[in-house]
Amino acid sequence: MTLSRSALVASGKVYQTRGISRRVAQINISAIKEMPLIASKVGGCVSLGQGIPSFPTSPHIVEAVCRKMREDPDSGKYTLGPGMSELREAVAVRLGGQVGRTVDPDKEICVTVGAMEALSAAVLTVVDRGDEVILPSPNYASHIEQVLLAEGVPVFAPLHEDNWQLDVERIREVVTPRTRAIILCNPHNPTGANFAESDLRVLADLVIKNDLFIICDETYDFLVYDGQPHFSLTTVPGLSDRVIATFSFSKKYAMTGWRVGYVYAAEGILDQIMKIHDAVAICAPSLSQYAALTALEGPQDCVTEIKAALQWRRDLVCRRLTDLNEFFGYVKPQGAYYLMARYKLQGVDSMTFALRLLHEARVITIPGAAFGPTGENHIRISFGGTETEINEAFDRMERWLPGFRLGEN
Ligand SMILES: Cc1ncc(COP(=O)(O)O)c(C=O)c1O
Repeated sequence: MTLSRSALVASGKVYQTRGISRRVAQINISAIKEMPLIASKVGGCVSLGQGIPSFPTSPHIVEAVCRKMREDPDSGKYTLGPGMSELREAVAVRLGGQVGRTVDPDKEICVTVGAMEALSAAVLTVVDRGDEVILPSPNYASHIEQVLLAEGVPVFAPLHEDNWQLDVERIREVVTPRTRAIILCNPHNPTGANFAESDLRVLADLVIKNDLFIICDETYDFLVYDGQPHFSLTTVPGLSDRVIATFSFSKKYAMTGWRVGYVYAAEGILDQIMKIHDAVAICAPSLSQYAALTALEGPQDCVTEIKAALQWRRDLVCRRLTDLNEFFGYVKPQGAYYLMARYKLQGVDSMTFALRLLHEARVITIPGAAFGPTGENHIRISFGGTETEINEAFDRMERWLPGFRLGEN
């Protein structure tokens, strides 16, 4: 399945590409980041767009960092490249419990500038020009750009549209001798799916049989609803030298702006990832690493509170969408804090729909096409915002939708 690249440039900006490398000229800023930029010029918008949780970073984390800055004259200096030893040790303990084996903090963990740096480094490490990388469709938009940046070829395997679960047979069908890796985010942005363990185990066999890498984006590993379990491919023993797993402090501890995450991979792979990390970042920000350490070692009730609030907001968004069932269909999210709302209006592509929603109703959403071909005819809705923001956005949509006419601007 292919994707129209031009359809993804929401702002209509024409880039100057003379003298610019092919690998950069061919990528775009994802629509997730473009829509808020456009909205900042329009003014007065309310957001169901970018996945920014409304919660502030916990006071105990903020206090600890302020103390550290005041009291430790070294706190503003670089740390070791792979990250502070204490943080890597704390990560290794947590991760070891999750994957069911000992994780070596010196050989298997690198602290990164958010999961985003970890993902980019992972893709650049294993993908060569022309290599194919399988992505579910829809999928997190930045994974597409990361594959293109490595001069790889994104190959989309559609999810089941009735429940957004994995269709492993569709994945099997698109594997070729050029396939190098699969990138999988679970729980899933943008659909809110929590993929079934049985499908993930079949996928693990497929990865092993075809000698592939699997890049697991575990940004939302803590965020599943209704008491469901989350299954991580990092726990499958036969995959240990094929898994590159990326994690984030952004959403779990309401630390999106601190820019800290980490990558877990077998020593031989991590050594290579570290070369990219050194070339692009040197190390993750020192104070943010300290904040992450405080988050891991401190009380976890902030995580419990975030989860409970987001489950409540999910139910609110579902109620509001059900009230609009003349205009939208959707699958109830089981994890993360997104859903894909399928609009029932004919003859309008998702970019046009999302841009008109933004300009005319002042509501920010993300056009579904940004997430791969299967995302067309959808908008992605994030429920990371407050109850007031969510209700205001839906009130505006309720007023706007009945008057929507094709061909008007
Ligand atoms: C699926 C997914 N992966 C990675 C990221 C980036 O996370 P970080 O803030 O840790 O770079 C996000 C952020 O929204 C995300 O949704």
